[in-house]
Amino acid sequence: MKIFLDTADVAEIREYAASGLVDGVTTNPSLAAKTGRDYGESLKEICAIIPGSVSAEVLATDFDGMMKEGKAVSKIGKQITIKVPLTWDGLKACKAFSSEGLQVNVTLCFSPVQAMMAAKAGATFISPFIGRVDDIGEDGMGLIRDIRAIYDNYGFKTEILAASVRHVQHVREAALAGADVSTIPVSVFKQLLSHPLTDKGLAAFVADAKKGNVTIKT
Ligand code: E4P
Repeated sequence: MKIFLDTADVAEIREYAASGLVDGVTTNPSLAAKTGRDYGESLKEICAIIPGSVSAEVLATDFDGMMKEGKAVSKIGKQITIKVPLTWDGLKACKAFSSEGLQVNVTLCFSPVQAMMAAKAGATFISPFIGRVDDIGEDGMGLIRDIRAIYDNYGFKTEILAASVRHVQHVREAALAGADVSTIPVSVFKQLLSHPLTDKGLAAFVADAKKGNVTIKT
């Protein structure tokens, strides 16, 4: 499964991309607003760090506006994926962008049928918001499983990008459910490797090596 960072914070992206384990980045207007910076400038800097997909969300809600903004952001870097909302205008723009060979991430997906329509519009990625589905007492992971089944039934190539991820369990379950990508906040990325037995085991290895004078010549 590919791991994307769900942030528009360039410093955070630079820090964690150094691990070599970040396959892409997703941004949205709320994340961009949090940085207090010019969105276009941040995207430029993110593209200089991340060679993989970088989602840039349009702000317009009408077809013409989305087309203008999508074309503008796509010039920032070849890895830009234009992010459009799951509306009629959004899917119309998705169809137009994908016909021109541009990558599109269709966002704000809350139902399997919405995801099917986005795939028909040629989306590169579909973003089901699992955390927000859980928040209203429904089954976010069930949404991923249903989309996986529909895409496999019909051979849709659209990648399932599990979004609105709140904790490591979401990443584990999304991977088991066959999501192609999880986009995760840095707080969750940092926890992906955490296990108390790893820490305990490493401390014991270090202590035993010291005690037994075990060395490696370099
Ligand atoms: C990413 O593409 C989405 O915009 C993001 O994951 C939404 O997350 P939230 O529900 O925590 O705002």
